[in-house]
This record gives sequence, structure tokens and C-alpha cells, in this order.
Amino acid sequence: MATGVQRRVVKPAVVHGLTRRFGDRTVLDELDLEIEPGQFVALLGPSGCGKSTLLRILADLDREITGEVEVAARRAVAFQAPRLMPWKRVWRNVVLGLPGRPDKQRAVAALEEVGLGHRVDVWPKVLSGGEAQRASLARALVREPDLLLLDEPFSALDALTRIRAQQLVGQLWQRHGCAILLVTHDVEEALLLADRVLVMRDGRIRYDQVLDLERPRDVADPTFVALRADLLSWLGVGTREQE
Ligand SMILES: Nc1ncnc2c1ncn2[C@@H]1O[C@H](COP(=O)(O)OP(=O)(O)OP(=O)(O)O)[C@@H](O)[C@H]1O
Ligand SMILES: [Mg+2]
Repeated sequence: MATGVQRRVVKPAVVHGLTRRFGDRTVLDELDLEIEPGQFVALLGPSGCGKSTLLRILADLDREITGEVEVAARRAVAFQAPRLMPWKRVWRNVVLGLPGRPDKQRAVAALEEVGLGHRVDVWPKVLSGGEAQRASLARALVREPDLLLLDEPFSALDALTRIRAQQLVGQLWQRHGCAILLVTHDVEEALLLADRVLVMRDGRIRYDQVLDLERPRDVADPTFVALRADLLSWLGVGTREQE
């Protein structure tokens, strides 16, 4: 039933009428989404609403779709779990799957960028959770993506490591200029990092807000506070009646 279409485009992602069913359950229901070059988009939504399903489709890991999906050829993905191969040293993990001979210099440059220049030759099991997640980011960045897909990359980290990892992603985004689609459950994280925040529910993007906030973000800014309240209520945490 793979009737969906994938081809190259100028925008990092253009999705029209995307539907994904699992059995008789429709998880994505005629979903539309366009992501602009260099845009940092955060995607929120209740557990099980289909965020990871959408990301997997954009990463071309799932083609059992109907509708139109056009995604930049250069894309990379990092998941909640770092998914490093335990039998390959860290630098080899970073360049795994790239065409040609494994290029150690390239891996080292990417690892240095995420602050792991001292972990190049170790085995993945030696890394802390935060380090493993940074190695996973290096593996994504070494692909020089036009679209970076991040599925809850910080959710397994402790609070302090998480703040550092968020700051790192913000810096990497500003340096590389790629578009990012970040799935997160954390409203504050979305508002600290993104240009645009989406809320998915019932198979579609129901809330789509471009953030008019200066960087670095100020959590005490009244606009920030108002957006946080609005988003929490969209997520069903709060008092405002939905639609
Ligand atoms: N391969 C699959 N087979 C059957 N059902 C699936 C499959 N993958 C996902 N689903 C179902 O699709 C729905 C959406 O799953 P998905 O993982 O996209 O949710 P999510 O929004 O990422 O949730 P969470 O925030 O908990 O990560 C869930 O009900 C899930 O059980
Ligand atoms: Mg998910």
C-alpha cells in the first residue's frame, strides 16, 4: 500500500494529506506541514498522538503511507536513545553509513563540536548518557543535513545535562543553519529553542505558532509566559476549554 510520494524539494519538508494507519487505527489523518529552510520547529502533543510516527516517515524509515511527503535529501535523525553500535568505537559510530572509507578526521571534527574530542576512540559503553546523546548528535551533524529530526533527544538526561544539551543544540543550529524538527514533551524546552511551535492531536497539526521572541529567551518575558500557558492548555494541562 506504499502509495506515498518522496522526492527532493527546496523546502526541507513539505507534507500534504499525509495519512498513516496501523490496522484500523488512523494515527496521521490528512496531516499538512511545511518547514522552511533553517527553521527550528518544536513539535508537542500528547503521548501516542503520532509524533514519532511523523518523524519516522520524514526520516524515510516508514513508507506505509498515503499522501505527499517531500523531504530534503540530506536529512539526519537522532532518537531518544542514542542507538550507538556497541561493537564500534565512538568515531566509527559517527561516520557509520556514510559513503566511502570511514573518515576519522571528519568524525573527530564532529565529536569536537559536541565537546567529545576526548572520547573519539572509546567504546560506546564507556560514555555517560549525556555523552552518548552528544555522540548521537555528532553522528547526525556529520551528515550536514538540511533537515535534522530530533525525537525527544534530551528526555532521558538528568536536569543539568539536559540544559547543557539544549544549549548545545541551540548553538549547533545557529552554526549549521539547518532546519530542525524537535519532538519534545517539554513546553519550556520548545519555547526556549524553537522559532515555531506545533501541537499535534487527533492526527493533525492543530496549533501552529511562530514565536516572536528575542534570543536568548527569557522565561519571565510576559509573551513567553502567555505562550507557555496557551501551550499547556492545548496539551490538556490547564483550565482553558479546548476548541
Ligand atoms: N509499528 C506500529 N504498529 C502498530 N501501532 C503503532 C506502530 N507504531 C506506532 N503505533 C501506534 O501509533 C500511535 C502513535 O505512536 P507514536 O509513537 O507516533 O506516538 P508519539 O506521539 O510519538 O508518543 P510518545 O509521546 O509517547 O512518544 C500509538 O498508538 C502507537 O501505538
Ligand atoms: Mg514518540
